[in-house]
Amino acid sequence: MIDLNINGQSVAVNAPEDMPLLWALRDIVGLTGTKFGCGIAQCGACTVHLDGQPVRSCVLPVGSIGKKAITTIEAVSQTPAGKSIQKAWLDVDVVQCGYCQSGQIMSAAALIQRTPNPSDADIDLAMSGNVCRCCTYSRIRAAIKQAATGKAEVLQSVVAMPARSAS
Ligand code: FES
Ligand code: FES
Repeated sequence: MIDLNINGQSVAVNAPEDMPLLWALRDIVGLTGTKFGCGIAQCGACTVHLDGQPVRSCVLPVGSIGKKAITTIEAVSQTPAGKSIQKAWLDVDVVQCGYCQSGQIMSAAALIQRTPNPSDADIDLAMSGNVCRCCTYSRIRAAIKQAATGKAEVLQSVVAMPARSAS
C-alpha cells in the first residue's frame, strides 16, 4: 500500500511503486477528471498539481511522491486561483470537445498562483506543454487574463463568434 495525499485526504492506494500516478488516480481512486492523452509527458492532458506545481501524472511513479500534496481537477476550485480560472473558463466559453481542458485548467491555475498578473509571454511559456486539438488557444489565453485581472474587457480580444440560431 502507498499512502497518498490526494485533494486534502489521505488515501491508501494498492499499487506498485512504479505505477504512474495517472493510473492510480483514474483506475484505483476513481478520479477520472484527469485525462490520458499521450502517456509520454508531451500533451499535458494528465496535468495535476504536486505541492502546487503542475506535473505530468502519466510519467510520475506513485512511489516517488511521498507526502507531497496532490491536487486534481476535482479539487482545483478549493484555491482562489483555481476558482477564478474555472469561472473565467465558463465566462469565456473556452471548452470545445473538452478533452484537454482539465490539464489546461491545472496548468493555468498553477500559473496565476505563482504569477498573479502574467504577460502574454508568461502565458505562452506556462501553457506551451498543453496541447489542444480543438485549437482553443486564444480563448485559453483570454480566460487566463480575465482570471488574473478580473477585467471582462479582455474578452473583446477573443474572435467574435456568429450568434447561434435557436434551431
Ligand atoms: S498524457 Fe501525460 S502529458 Fe500526455
Ligand atoms: S478542447 Fe478539444 S482537445 Fe482541447
